Amino acid sequence: MIMPNEKTQKKTIPFIQAKKEKKEKIVAITAYDFPVAKIVDQCGIDLILVGDSLGMVVLGYKNTIPVTMEDMIHHTRPVVIASKSALVVGDMPYFSFHLSNEESVYNASRFLKEAGASAVKIEGASKKRLKLVEALVEAEIPVMGHVGLTPQSIYHFGQFKVKGKEIEEAENIVKDALSLEKAGVFSVILECIPMEVARIITEKLKIPTIGIGAGPYCDGQILVFHDLVGFSNGYLPKFVRKYVDIHEVISRAVKGYIDDVKKGKFPDSNYSYHSKSGKLDELIKKEDQKRGKKKK
Ligand code: KIV
Repeated sequence: MIMPNEKTQKKTIPFIQAKKEKKEKIVAITAYDFPVAKIVDQCGIDLILVGDSLGMVVLGYKNTIPVTMEDMIHHTRPVVIASKSALVVGDMPYFSFHLSNEESVYNASRFLKEAGASAVKIEGASKKRLKLVEALVEAEIPVMGHVGLTPQSIYHFGQFKVKGKEIEEAENIVKDALSLEKAGVFSVILECIPMEVARIITEKLKIPTIGIGAGPYCDGQILVFHDLVGFSNGYLPKFVRKYVDIHEVISRAVKGYIDDVKKGKFPDSNYSYHSKSGKLDELIKKEDQKRGKKKK
């Protein structure tokens, strides 16, 4: 068993990396607010990603493109406050790391300085992106890579679909993961790629791979919280296992509340405050008498 920082109990990047060496699975999840982060942290999650999936599952956008730095900082801060043990990684939103390295490093630093995250994640592995990873590491900002399906390239891809099913694309993804490792990322997300490709990458890399839709051979797994608890009653990708139907649970509770209020069943005396015995008797008697007179 690998232990987190002995003093703080906080899971660190070396702790996450040691799990690969010891062949212990890394379990990661997304969270975007205090109450959910508190629950998943207390459950023993290793790593919480404040993903820009925020845009889709919390803010109601059709993709992650509109998410801003302000959105991300706003949501990362409460997750960090709630996380006593899990390592928190902030996801850099679209166009927060696409211009100069200087601006990108500044944006990344905000996740650490203003929100308290321990690392940032960026999508892609172009030459420019690799240089940025080096600049971030140089600025003491730990970076998580992300290859395969990279949702910020949605307009480029045209749709969300599995990457690396053909040899050339698979080879490029392997190459990208290796280049990211060389540039200095501490781990890499593999999203929506065939499990065989994820296996090759996981065996080649010294740093941990964390898969989402990338099969069982990755060093760890990550799922979007809202998917695994069933917040949406719409389409879910093949790789999501829905552990509870929270949409149904919440709907049942809210319908029960509506019904009870309409029928006068809530609140009853048990859910109401009462005056100390006798203290309001005089007032009640006077009001009752007034009401009695009015009726006549
Ligand atoms: O934004 C996100 O939630 C992610 C995960 C799907 C890895 O990038």
